[in-house]
Amino acid sequence: MSFHPLMAYDRARFQKSERKIADEGPPFVFTPERRAKLDDILTKYPPDKKRSAVLAALYLVQEQVGYVTAGGMRHVAGILDLAPAEVEDVATYYVMFFKEPVGKHVVQVCRTLSCALMGAERVTETLSEKLGIKVGETDASGTFTLLEFECLGACDRAPVIMVNNAQWYECVRPEDVGRLVDDLTASKRDPAFSGCHLKVEA
Ligand code: FES
Repeated sequence: MSFHPLMAYDRARFQKSERKIADEGPPFVFTPERRAKLDDILTKYPPDKKRSAVLAALYLVQEQVGYVTAGGMRHVAGILDLAPAEVEDVATYYVMFFKEPVGKHVVQVCRTLSCALMGAERVTETLSEKLGIKVGETDASGTFTLLEFECLGACDRAPVIMVNNAQWYECVRPEDVGRLVDDLTASKRDPAFSGCHLKVEA
């Protein structure tokens, strides 16, 4: 559902759960650096509990490719002694994993109650107009993907926008959107899919 009657909730395009997803696509192998990173993460778990590292492993796949591929899920399943379907279950449950290519900047606007009451719909509409794409779409240049998100945990600073799971914008007004997009367009920053909100930006 959407709090905005005119904005269909199209996130399912990115998070849809289709069992066949893990059977498709080319093979995937971690770069030596990412494999070493995962091996280091695995030292934090007892050998019979290494499946608990599945989220970290999927983040590494997304960091390497830009989204979670079927080959990446199969590769993770092999390393963690899981069935590919189990990895797919995780990847399709958590909304921070993308199952198809996204833009360099994934702009996610919180649409839950506090943000909705503080005008998130207007922010999303203005973003949509500025970027020339609807919610759930990526622009032709592959620079921006626009998504709606559920509560980002900063309700007292609504409306909130998160970019690439890393950049954080609070108390956003429609009139701020132009500068935000221009700043991102000019940014040399690489896509960040760390999943950790370590950077807080005004
Ligand atoms: S409702 Fe938007 S951050 Fe909680």
